[in-house]
Parts: sequence; structure tokens; C-alpha cells
Amino acid sequence: MSQRITLVTGASRRIGRAIAEACLTRDERVVAHRRSADSDPEPFCAPVLEWCWDMNDPLPALPEADITDVVLSASLFERGYAWGALGAADGGPGRIEEERERLQRHLRVNLLAPWELVVSLHARRPLRSVVMLLDTYLDRSFAGHSAYQVSRAAGAGMVRALAAELSPCRVNAVAPGTVLPSVRDPAERAEQEEAIAARTVLGRMGSVEDVVEAVLYLRDAPYVTGEILRVDGGRFKV
Ligand SMILES: NC(=O)c1ccc[n+]([C@@H]2O[C@H](COP(=O)([O-])OP(=O)(O)OC[C@H]3O[C@@H](n4cnc5c(N)ncnc54)[C@H](OP(=O)(O)O)[C@@H]3O)[C@@H](O)[C@H]2O)c1
Repeated sequence: MSQRITLVTGASRRIGRAIAEACLTRDERVVAHRRSADSDPEPFCAPVLEWCWDMNDPLPALPEADITDVVLSASLFERGYAWGALGAADGGPGRIEEERERLQRHLRVNLLAPWELVVSLHARRPLRSVVMLLDTYLDRSFAGHSAYQVSRAAGAGMVRALAAELSPCRVNAVAPGTVLPSVRDPAERAEQEEAIAARTVLGRMGSVEDVVEAVLYLRDAPYVTGEILRVDGGRFKV
């Protein structure tokens, strides 16, 4: 068994889970984070150390394990109001307050909580590497998604700052394009996948495995730090 212990946030499902499983299949140890002790995720392919934290709450006691690497996959993605119409719409001030709270939530879960976790772990025992999941849309704005986008743009800044501040610990990010479509209906899903594929240079949608591979590459690449690696099939290259 390897000495490496990777803490993966948001490990109970989707991409975070796939990252945790990939580490386990390499015979590595994993601390699998999830939001709540009340949730009951499917068992992993090998034993994991479990750790729960709702990132809206203060940081609880850190896991006791000698964590060497951190993968920050947990994130909040919540649709909001288009900012241009906030003041004019019926109930304008109420909506501004609602949107301000949404922005605070995104900054808390997508920026401040990961920052607090990483600096606390590193202060206790220096980390080898940190990989943060961002989003290829981190520097593009879409009406109704600005709270999320601002938190991701700030996340990119944080990755570069942590790389400088925590060296020789390496800090990088993967910024995926959409690899898991949001709709469930098979017909709508196929349509969404086609639309996503058409917007890429490679002409296809990426997979969770593409993201996992990039995360593990950055976690292990000894001379790469402060990088934001887009895994998006060339979304913004044309
Ligand atoms: N899926 C994609 O196509 C895609 C595209 C671009 C970027 N990304 C990025 O890649 C990462 C993983 O994506 P995903 O689709 O797998 O993510 P997801 O399903 O949207 O959510 C990931 C995890 O975030 C955790 N989380 C949310 N709020 C939390 C809170 N307050 N406290 C603690 N945990 C919280 C959830 O934990 P629980 O399950 O325990 O509630 C969930 O498992 C995210 O950072 C996402 O922004 C994904």
C-alpha cells in the first residue's frame, strides 16, 4: 500500500467519487469527504476513511490521517438571477438581497472553505500537492450564472496564490468542460450532448475519465505548479 493519502472533497458521487475510486484502484489510501454524515453513499471499491463537513459551517476537526494530497472536487453550482434586471424586476430589492446571499454561498463553498481546508492541513503537516476542480467557463460570464462564475474566477486566482505561498507543495487546477450533462431525459440528454460536442474543437463531449486522468496527472507531476489545465476538447480554441 502506498504512503500517499489523498483527501478528496465531494467524493460521494460523480467526478469526486471517480477520482477517489481511481486512487483506490492504484492501491492508495483515500479520505472520502462528503457533506453530511446522514447521507449514505454507495460503498467504494476498497475501504476509505470517511470525513464529513458541510462547507457552509465552520471547519470541524481535521481527519487524523497523514494526508499528503488534496483534491478539491466539492462545489456549489446554483442558478441565479440575471444581474442586469435585478433592480428593475418586481421585488427588486428582495432579489438583490437573495442574489447577494447566493454570491456569498458560492464564495464560501467554492473559495473560502477549500482555502481554509488546504491551509489548515498544510499548517499541520506540509502537503505534497493540491488539485482543485474549476470550470472551463471560469473566465466567461453568462446571465444567471454570475455568482458561480465569480467564485470560479477567484478560484483560479487562489490556485496561483496557493502555489506561490505553499511551495514546495504544488497547487494546480483542472478546468473541465461539461462531462456530465444536467438533464436526465434520454432524448434531451442526447440533444445536449450533441450541442456540447459541436462547441468543441475535437467534436465530442469529454468523459469523467478524461477529468480523472488530468487530476491524477497534476497531482503527481513533480515540476508543474500554478497551472490551470482545461480539459474541454478545445472549447475556446475556435
Ligand atoms: N460535471 C461536469 O460536467 C463539470 C463541468 C465543469 C466543472 N465541473 C467541476 O468539477 C467538480 C465535480 O463536478 P461534479 O459534477 O461531480 O460536482 P457536483 O455533483 O455538482 O457536486 C460535487 C460535490 O459537491 C459537494 N458539495 C456541494 N455543496 C457542499 C457543501 N456545502 N458542503 C460540502 N460538500 C458540498 C456535494 O457533496 P454531497 O454529495 O456530499 O452533498 C457533491 O458531491 C466540481 O467542482 C464542478 O464544478 C464539473
